Amino acid sequence: MPPIANDESKVQLERLGHVVVEHADLAKFRAFAKDFGMVEERVEKDRVYYRGYGVDPYLYVAQQSKSRRPKFLGPAFVAKSQKEFDKAAALPGAKLGSLADAPGGGQIVTFERQDETYMHVIYGQKERSAPSGEEPSATHDQFGPLNTPFSKPRQGKFQRFHPGPALVHKLGHMGYVYRDFDTEVKWWTSNFNFVPSDILYHWDFSNMDVLTFMHLDHGKEYTDHHILFLQRAEPQVKKSFMHHCSFEVADFDTQLIGHQWLAQKGWKSIWGVGRHVLGSQIFDYWQDPSGFKIEHYADGDLVNEDTPTKRDVVGPFSVWGPEVPKDFGSNGIIVNVGGKI
Ligand SMILES: [Fe+2]
Repeated sequence: MPPIANDESKVQLERLGHVVVEHADLAKFRAFAKDFGMVEERVEKDRVYYRGYGVDPYLYVAQQSKSRRPKFLGPAFVAKSQKEFDKAAALPGAKLGSLADAPGGGQIVTFERQDETYMHVIYGQKERSAPSGEEPSATHDQFGPLNTPFSKPRQGKFQRFHPGPALVHKLGHMGYVYRDFDTEVKWWTSNFNFVPSDILYHWDFSNMDVLTFMHLDHGKEYTDHHILFLQRAEPQVKKSFMHHCSFEVADFDTQLIGHQWLAQKGWKSIWGVGRHVLGSQIFDYWQDPSGFKIEHYADGDLVNEDTPTKRDVVGPFSVWGPEVPKDFGSNGIIVNVGGKI
């Protein structure tokens, strides 16, 4: 990959807002989403808007697929200002739309990229007032600071929990696996303020980059280690695809109690709970009823403009946790409950 730096000519994005996903069976997804810890903000006939407890009016839009074939319709990134939104709307291929009918309103532009993958930029939503202080929880009755061998800040107070879902805070990151990786890296990084935190190259070909974790450059302000990752598809992949979307939860106990909750409800665990190397997140991947991978994460790293981009060979993705499943890199989409594509 060529060196990548942000500059003012690029559209400046603030954060991820939401994803839009068409499901084979919306009713089934509603059951899953409830156990995953998303809250229904608005239910329409063939569409449900879900929120977390962050500022975004919604973080996931689930729609009934008319063909009953699941389809990922893209992530929506929030522009930093009206000026930045207008810059996005002026880019080649931009299709202007409206979010007037969605919770919080706002404007949207959509880009269609290779193999029917999508990217949206939004602006002007009425934000929720996010709670301050302790995170809302469906599992924690009482939760104080952690006691460690040399430091015992929690005195005379007890850690008390009960079973429940891991409530999600925000949409933290998502990623695409692209057949034409080089073209997409160029498009995403030359038009927007994505800057690589880590670049990984192929174990046999040191001149071939295969994966990059990117953050949004906000100068001195620290942002999540990755909000977007782009991966080079293996040669046998016929169509580029979304790999997974990831939602932030409060802490390690929330992760584990939430994991147990989803398992008890009979949902399919893909990989987790474990701790990533790059980005450091505690991760937990699940399969939704359409076959898409969806992740809970907690305790991710932050970077800023002073954090150098690192380049290394592809290595282990976790420091601890279960072994990576062999098909983790694949598109898990389930077609008509039958085979896989
Ligand atoms: Fe992830």
